[in-house]
Amino acid sequence: MSTQILFQPFSLKSLSLKNRIVMAPMTRAMAKDGIPGAAQAEYYRRRAAGGVGLILTEGTVIDRPASRNDPGIPFFHGEAALAGWDAVAKSVHAAGGKIGPQIWHTGSTRSSRSQSQPEDLVESPSGLVGPDDPRGKAMTEEDIADTVAAFASAAANAKRLGFDIVELHGAHGYLIDQFFWEGSNKRTDAFGGATIAERSRFAAEAVRAVRAAVGADFPLSLRVSQWKQQDYAARNASTPDEMTAWLLPLVEAGVDILHCSQRRFWTPEFPEIDGDAGLNFAGWAKKLTGAATISVGSVGLSSDFFGAFGGQGSESASFDNLIERMERQEFDLIAVGRPLISDAEWTAKVSGGKLEELGGFNAADLAVLA
Ligand SMILES: Cc1cc2nc3c(=O)[nH]c(=O)nc-3n(C[C@H](O)[C@H](O)[C@H](O)COP(=O)(O)O)c2cc1C
Repeated sequence: MSTQILFQPFSLKSLSLKNRIVMAPMTRAMAKDGIPGAAQAEYYRRRAAGGVGLILTEGTVIDRPASRNDPGIPFFHGEAALAGWDAVAKSVHAAGGKIGPQIWHTGSTRSSRSQSQPEDLVESPSGLVGPDDPRGKAMTEEDIADTVAAFASAAANAKRLGFDIVELHGAHGYLIDQFFWEGSNKRTDAFGGATIAERSRFAAEAVRAVRAAVGADFPLSLRVSQWKQQDYAARNASTPDEMTAWLLPLVEAGVDILHCSQRRFWTPEFPEIDGDAGLNFAGWAKKLTGAATISVGSVGLSSDFFGAFGGQGSESASFDNLIERMERQEFDLIAVGRPLISDAEWTAKVSGGKLEELGGFNAADLAVLA
């Protein structure tokens, strides 16, 4: 099957992409003192030179005292870190690529190195990581307002530095998702409630503030997921109506692109509903909100990414299902993660039809930034 459908151009507002392939945001935790340096600039430049349409950077954190849970995560605030990001954007642009930072706050989540965080400043909607798992403090309304402002300030800096898009990380059980999820949001004020629509208010305020900071024409992506690192089976929306209540207010607040994270892009989002050709998460999000969507999850690979951190690699696999979905315009763009860690030339090989040269993903490649 020809992969040429992946190489149609795409444009939205001020963004124009030469193809539909997006480098998925992937934390590498190698930014010394939180500052991206020459190694990061070269790492992203090589993927741009390899032909990827859009790079979404590793998550990079906003200006809050405990916004990162690992000392290798880069800041997206402060003069030195922003100068580092400026150099990253310039090197990607010089190689003919497009790039946006993924703006992040890790909330109360732990990591193997989260002990580096000032524990008493760790913040989340209700001082919980998940059900019955307390950590840090519940955010006051002032904390919330300051955090919303910090997201807006980061986005304004992304635009000022010449990035092509900005993405907010609203997925995987981190701060924004901790507001969405009933398992971590027990608030009784306007930022909590029994419905997903009520629990979406924090994200909507962040989106509105970001939109105001970047203006009408700058593209804004929001990454969302049903699954959380705290509970892979958890869902923010169990029905299409709930999904509309979750995502439509966010699109109305200013999101242009919903980046719908799932582990395998071919998994139907609501398998019990007939007649929709097994639309995946991005397919449903596009249908219900009208926004552009990015899908993701095990593209060209034989196994999903949860094993990657335990050292599990993945073989190369068929593109047929992806191509069929792209031909049906189920979603607009497709993000690719692990293959682009292992092979900076991955996109060029797919474009050139050299699928037999794709090597899948080697978990040992996580140890180096190359
Ligand atoms: C090493 C690694 C780091 C990741 N870091 C992030 C991140 O910072 N932000 C994010 O939204 N997703 C992150 N993810 C998830 C990826 O963006 C992507 O959704 C996932 O790897 C599935 O895509 P794949 O099957 O093509 O690898 C990470 C995944 C990996 C393997």
